[in-house]
Amino acid sequence: MPEIHKGLEGVYIDESNISRVFGDEGKLTYRGYWIDDLAQHSTYEEVVYLLLYGELPDQEELDAFTNQLASHREISDTTRNVIDGMADAGPMDVLRTAVSSTAEATEGEFSVEENRQHGIEIIAKVPTILAYFNRVRNGEEPIKPREDLSHAANFYYMLHGEEPTEVQEHAVNTAMVLYAEHGMNASTFTAVTIASTQANMYSAVTGGIGALQGPLHGGATETVVDMLDDIGSADSVADWVDARIDAHEKIPGFGHRVYRSVDPRCAQFARVYQELVDEDGESARLELIETVHEYVVEEKGLGEKGIYPNTDLYSGTVYSALGIDPDLYTCMFTMARVAGWVAHVLEQWEDNRILRPRVEYTGEVGKEFVPVEER
Ligand code: SDX
Repeated sequence: MPEIHKGLEGVYIDESNISRVFGDEGKLTYRGYWIDDLAQHSTYEEVVYLLLYGELPDQEELDAFTNQLASHREISDTTRNVIDGMADAGPMDVLRTAVSSTAEATEGEFSVEENRQHGIEIIAKVPTILAYFNRVRNGEEPIKPREDLSHAANFYYMLHGEEPTEVQEHAVNTAMVLYAEHGMNASTFTAVTIASTQANMYSAVTGGIGALQGPLHGGATETVVDMLDDIGSADSVADWVDARIDAHEKIPGFGHRVYRSVDPRCAQFARVYQELVDEDGESARLELIETVHEYVVEEKGLGEKGIYPNTDLYSGTVYSALGIDPDLYTCMFTMARVAGWVAHVLEQWEDNRILRPRVEYTGEVGKEFVPVEER
């Protein structure tokens, strides 16, 4: 019997120089830069350039890339019609389908640069798709993208109809930097597997969105907010968590396949959330989250089992403070992670081999076939 690696736990499928998750230390690097530095000092445009080209851009490269992204923000009537026709579908189903519809005239083989270009166009269009969908479902007039605003500010503007404050723009930008890339997680693995058959960038990214939807992965961002709403206040944390653990149910926003300490992205989300609270006086949920964090890890001792908060415990409060509806939180994750998917797909194609694992067949062999009329 061959050794089975359920969930591919601990299995390395290739080398990569895009990012590394230091699970024991609770650290994360994109192309050698620490996530703390990138989250505090870089724009999402800079990080996308870093992920796609391998190095931070100089000012001239950054200006050109920022303009290139901004010039592709508009979506076609085809994509608008797809969104309009999915009025009753969930946001992630709409986003997945709308992204797929941006593949125009894509027959045939593409060069590396053409594939990268397709990826850049998808990255540019996801915010417009998401904002258009949300405006239409709320009965509001869609707002056209502007090329004079940053990626983060333009998303906020298309969503809310007004430009963000500096603090709000920094919060959207930080969230996108933090969620941009995270190694060979389930959605990136899906995108890379699709790319390994030499399917195109649109198929790979669409597959990544499908994988990210699940509550064990990107969908957890929404279940955390449901948990916090359910708990209500800090003095109800113990009862809620105890009941969940007694029922052998997982606590949303905790646990990770790689991190065996606190996910470094949590502190950055907590930082920008506090900045939003300081500016807006928005209801400070940070105390409730930190009470959950402390109780689960320390009082219930899950920290000893290597179970700590992951980024989803904190990200939802930032989105809530930005006036974003909870059912859009996984779409926010998608809007950021498209950059990581594109980077890994391009890296896969640099030295491609189709991904084709095995399963050990444990059924019978050589059964006699009986025609249906005799069964
Ligand atoms: C993301 O992979 C990535 O990098 C993902 C991500 C990214 O940026 O791409 O970081 C984003 O997806 C973060 C994770 C979001 N998901 C959640 O918050 C959902 C809750 N977490 C779990 O479902 C779970 O922790 C996973 C899915 C994240 C990890 O699953 P694993 O590695 O398969 O772990 P497991 O389910 O086998 O659990 C191992 C043990 C079990 O206990 P035992 O049966 O061995 O006694 O840890 C326990 C689990 O019961 N456990 C939890 C728990 N997570 C794991 N117990 C309580 N609450 C939890 N959240």
